[in-house]
Amino acid sequence: MLKANIAVFVSGGGTNLQALIDAEKSGIIKSGEIKLVVSNKVDAYGLVRAKDNNIKTAVISRKEYGDNFSKKLIEILEENNIDIIVLAGYLAILDEEFTKKYDSRIINIHPSLIPSFCGKGYYGLKVHEAALEYGVKVSGATVHYVNEVPDGGKIIAQKAVEVKPNDTPEILQKRIMEEAEWIILPQSTELVCKKYMESKD
Ligand code: GRF
Repeated sequence: MLKANIAVFVSGGGTNLQALIDAEKSGIIKSGEIKLVVSNKVDAYGLVRAKDNNIKTAVISRKEYGDNFSKKLIEILEENNIDIIVLAGYLAILDEEFTKKYDSRIINIHPSLIPSFCGKGYYGLKVHEAALEYGVKVSGATVHYVNEVPDGGKIIAQKAVEVKPNDTPEILQKRIMEEAEWIILPQSTELVCKKYMESKD
């Protein structure tokens, strides 16, 4: 069966990438195949996870490519015939040239229930620090399409997670990853790949 070619963008530990790799192996993701892992950080552990699973990697940083950053990203995606892009803990900003070219084909996992605790400056532990500071009793994760507005695209999936009285940002982050991110990102990736492949029929 024909599958969508997926590129996963990472900047850190890559536990969401690992969840995607495992989901492809278990058949949760069957309409797409991870063909490339791209990072803006040469030391991202997500690159090690990719190599351990014989997945091609590339490091493309704005520092190195400056104004040609988007062009370089597009070049490597076209070289690998990439159809769908999954941002899994990716911290570089993608400009409008890029998001327009891949309109409705880029998805992102954000560790809160958008529209809470999202947008400029809300990433990684900062999201959970803000949730605990506000005193919310429920948080969670969101998968959404990516457009030119940070965390602004149409929501695809969300999953709520209980906030517990003695949570630290680290404990809450871990619970949201385990109970939400690693579940809804593979599910959403399968949904978007399936939709894309059907649109090509
Ligand atoms: C995750 O919490 C994700 O929601 C956020 O950054 C973190 C990345 O974790 N965008 P990992 O690199 O997938 O382990």
